[in-house]
Amino acid sequence: MSQQPRVLLTGGAGYIGSHTAVALIEAGYAPVLVDDFSNSSPAVLKRLEQLTGQPVVCERGDVQDRPWVEGLLRRHACQATIHLAGFKAVGESVAQPLKYYRNNVGGLISVMQAMQAVDCRAIVFSSSATVYGDPASVPIDETFACAPESPYAHSKLVCEQMLAAQAKAQADWRVGVLRYFNPVGAHPSGQIGEDPGGVPNNLMPYIAQVAVGQREKLQVFGNDYPTPDGTGVRDYLHVTDLALGHVAAVKRLLQCPGSFTVNLGTGAGTSVLGVLRAFERASGRSVPFEFVPRRAGDVAQYFADASLAASVLGWRASHGIEAMCRDAWHWQQRNPLGYAGEVAHELRGSGEKSRLGSFSDAI
Ligand code: UD1
Repeated sequence: MSQQPRVLLTGGAGYIGSHTAVALIEAGYAPVLVDDFSNSSPAVLKRLEQLTGQPVVCERGDVQDRPWVEGLLRRHACQATIHLAGFKAVGESVAQPLKYYRNNVGGLISVMQAMQAVDCRAIVFSSSATVYGDPASVPIDETFACAPESPYAHSKLVCEQMLAAQAKAQADWRVGVLRYFNPVGAHPSGQIGEDPGGVPNNLMPYIAQVAVGQREKLQVFGNDYPTPDGTGVRDYLHVTDLALGHVAAVKRLLQCPGSFTVNLGTGAGTSVLGVLRAFERASGRSVPFEFVPRRAGDVAQYFADASLAASVLGWRASHGIEAMCRDAWHWQQRNPLGYAGEVAHELRGSGEKSRLGSFSDAI
């Protein structure tokens, strides 16, 4: 264990964090998960232990608590941080922008200050392709101008700029910015997956809930876009491929000086109807839908030029839309209520506590 590089993984119990934790452990890293469980469930931790066959270290707290983060980095002797903790609902960010700036920007400042204090200088940052706004053309490469259209998107861009300023000011900092396209799907085991609270905002979890019978039909937002079938086109990316992108990024930062910003996507676009049909094939269920007007803020087409990630990180997505739908369906069927209903992992239960290592509660 002591030989494995320790990596602080903020937001480690979330959708992307949990899949990244598995990928890190499988690649020989020792992630130290941090989460405040504001948008995740402690039940995921037991699943992670079952999946990896290893104890999972998770600390509960808020990354805005800088002294606490500093203490964690010291105690676990972390060599790098993967910072995923953040809010991500576009609509909510429009209604409550300060909440987004405070948590997303404030959280990163706290983490970077803590890293600075303990001489930890490598950080992978979870950004989003949403920083590009409405692109002039597709595919989108990293030279495209950034024009964020929501406080959420802007908070991500501010974070990127802060990281760049720090890397410029202090040459020993190593920063890897990952601009995700649309992460979907679940671990093929069906043990971990996306568990959106309430009505899903995003397409794939909504379709999955219709297919399993929890919702009546999908509303397709717009069928008059200038795309082959009139519905919006996106670059869906299997979450296990995304997780491997984080492993490639942290590996590169630990091995080589320098910083990078890369898109993580497949490079292929799929329309809303294309996803729906693929999901029907994967599930054997029909997914009723109706066309409704466009959703405010949506763009017609959004997909990546993913070649820079291939050359900088040696990373390429390997799963297509069929596998994404198959695994999303497997997760949904096995966990129709997500992690809810499962006996919550006992954070302070005697037997489980020791298996979870140092599980502290800083809130
Ligand atoms: C959204 C966010 C983006 C975030 C991403 C994470 C917005 C404007 N953007 O992207 O910032 O990084 O999620 O995955 O919210 N659709 C329907 N019916 C639905 C839901 C979606 O037709 O019930 C359509 C949308 O119009 C779009 C496509 O499905 O064409 C994908 O939508 P969604 O999953 O919400 O992702 P994005 O809007 O691309």
